[in-house]
Amino acid sequence: MKQWQLEMLRCPFDRARLIASEGEMHCMECQKTFPVVDGIPSFVLPDLATAHEREEWLRKQSEMQARDAQASQYDHLLGLLLMSPLETRMTLRALRGRSARFTALAEIGCGTGRMLQHFAALADFVVGVDFSLQSLRLCQQRMQCIGALEKTLLIHADACFLPLADEALDAVASCQLVEHLPSDRLRRQVLAEMARVLKAGGRYAISGYHWSWFTRLSGAKQGMHQGGIYYYRFTRDEFHELVNTHLPVESLRSILGYVWLASGSKGA
Ligand SMILES: C[S@@+](CC[C@H](N)C(=O)[O-])C[C@H]1O[C@@H](n2cnc3c(N)ncnc32)[C@H](O)[C@@H]1O
Ligand SMILES: [Zn+2]
Repeated sequence: MKQWQLEMLRCPFDRARLIASEGEMHCMECQKTFPVVDGIPSFVLPDLATAHEREEWLRKQSEMQARDAQASQYDHLLGLLLMSPLETRMTLRALRGRSARFTALAEIGCGTGRMLQHFAALADFVVGVDFSLQSLRLCQQRMQCIGALEKTLLIHADACFLPLADEALDAVASCQLVEHLPSDRLRRQVLAEMARVLKAGGRYAISGYHWSWFTRLSGAKQGMHQGGIYYYRFTRDEFHELVNTHLPVESLRSILGYVWLASGSKGA
């Protein structure tokens, strides 16, 4: 682990600093040990089950397995291929605001790095968090291909329990993650975590499924995607309220009626 990575990482259970040794990280406070797999510290532990309702936990396990199984197909999904150019442009612009550049930027729920590869150009240090290890392995290859791996930290973790220090980042992005948190309680928890790790005055851009005339044609307001992935589609008011409770919403736009994109700066 590099020094800047150790400065950012914290135990997800008690937020204590971690000590790195060969192939693992250790918390001196709770004495838990976290493995480092192919350079990726892993904080996805069965111990987190007790912080969930049974249904929440089962749905998360189901998505984790589905994301690992589908990781190699994710970048070839037709809808994403069509939407990516516009989504990328709008998200980068929303995240930057008037900032020229960031020191440390994280994407929460980075998956295979479809968006993280573009965020890399905006910051000196880049963090990607996801609970699918298989997706993170593909993300790692991608960051290597674009020559950004040296400044990247990939973390295998549950977004509801970020193993990151308070105010560690000056930009936080999250693209199409929040709709997959399987309860209103967890959706609020993940927003609270994103707000916690963002510095005062830092920028954010967060997207989530839009319940629009267009998405009404192709599915229900909430349900399950193939392979057991839970989703929830938000009305404008629902998405605004969810984000604004934790981070002031300065801009809220729909991208092609498919996802909402909220952005702004964290207050002092
Ligand atoms: C629709 S994909 C989006 C991936 C990437 N942000 C993109 O835009 O291409 C949602 C991602 O969120 C991850 N995810 C879902 N719930 C999560 C959780 N509780 N903690 C961490 N990652 C989660 C999934 O593994 C998946 O990679
Ligand atoms: Zn600990």
